[in-house]
Amino acid sequence: MAAKKGLQLVELDSDGVDENFRRDVLAGLGQLQKAIPARWFYDERGSQLFEQITQLPEYYPTRTETAILADNGADFAQHIGPGRAVVEFGSGSSVKTPLLLSAIAPAAYVPLDISGDFLRASAAELSAKFPGLPVHPVEADFTRRVTLPDAVSTMPKLGFFPGSTIGNMVARSAVDLLRSMRETLGDEALLLIGMDLIKDEQTLRDAYDDAAGVTAQFNRNLITRINRELSGTIPEDAFVHRARWNDLYARIEMHLEATRDISFTVADTQFAMRQGETIHTENSHKFDARSGHLLLLAGRWTPVKRWSDADNRFAVVLAKATIPRGAP
Ligand code: AVI
Repeated sequence: MAAKKGLQLVELDSDGVDENFRRDVLAGLGQLQKAIPARWFYDERGSQLFEQITQLPEYYPTRTETAILADNGADFAQHIGPGRAVVEFGSGSSVKTPLLLSAIAPAAYVPLDISGDFLRASAAELSAKFPGLPVHPVEADFTRRVTLPDAVSTMPKLGFFPGSTIGNMVARSAVDLLRSMRETLGDEALLLIGMDLIKDEQTLRDAYDDAAGVTAQFNRNLITRINRELSGTIPEDAFVHRARWNDLYARIEMHLEATRDISFTVADTQFAMRQGETIHTENSHKFDARSGHLLLLAGRWTPVKRWSDADNRFAVVLAKATIPRGAP
């Protein structure tokens, strides 16, 4: 099944155009530093390309996180315990989710996703793998508080947010999301979250600029999508993929860089770019133990345990819902 990341709330106008996409693209191209939110990468082609990225030799996060989940099942069982409703933020991965569920003896599984079709397909796949486990898919925008099904209301929850998708958000949005998760899951909740780690720059740049050029295709597919869905005239051959390490913000930035001066229209609006100018298309923040923990604390989660691989490439962190108290 093709992977899908990020949130897409589809509101079509009378021409069948996604109004949120048009709004984000027009606003983003109108800025001094042009920028388009990364969630718009994931049309059908973009989702297929992301799936290919996860298999690339240079893209270590998926396989490293999967290995952490596979290797620490007994430890998860000990720290999480049985009988929780596992609430996954996103439709669920066909590999990582079963590893977690088979380790901890959950009471129910609740995948949350804004895309109903994708959600139902992955929930059906999961039910087939775990015939005795109640599965309650919920179609919802999980960046806001979600009301969970009555069937799980009295069960303690475990939120699951793998993939270091949290790293695709700037700090303010990441904190907002963690706080919403805390509200959705309640006072007794735990959260198991994947966080990609700061490492040598070459490894990071290679992971986002692979030799086979799949990440470049993934980035450039955004232009194809804009041209197709928003009647754009952007010259696709005038852009190259760039992956830059921004050390101050500890993040990989993906950009589309114009190789010559160009002008084009999108949804009847005129734009121009100079050679060397870029459209910023993605941030992928990387963490160390302290910055990851600080982010969780700001989001009202208290870290309790952290697992990482031997090369310290990726971490899976368990946190418990912070109970507010007076602090100095
Ligand atoms: C979905 N997300 C965690 C990926 C990442 O690594 O930031 C998206 C991605 N972009 C380029 N390659 C992968």
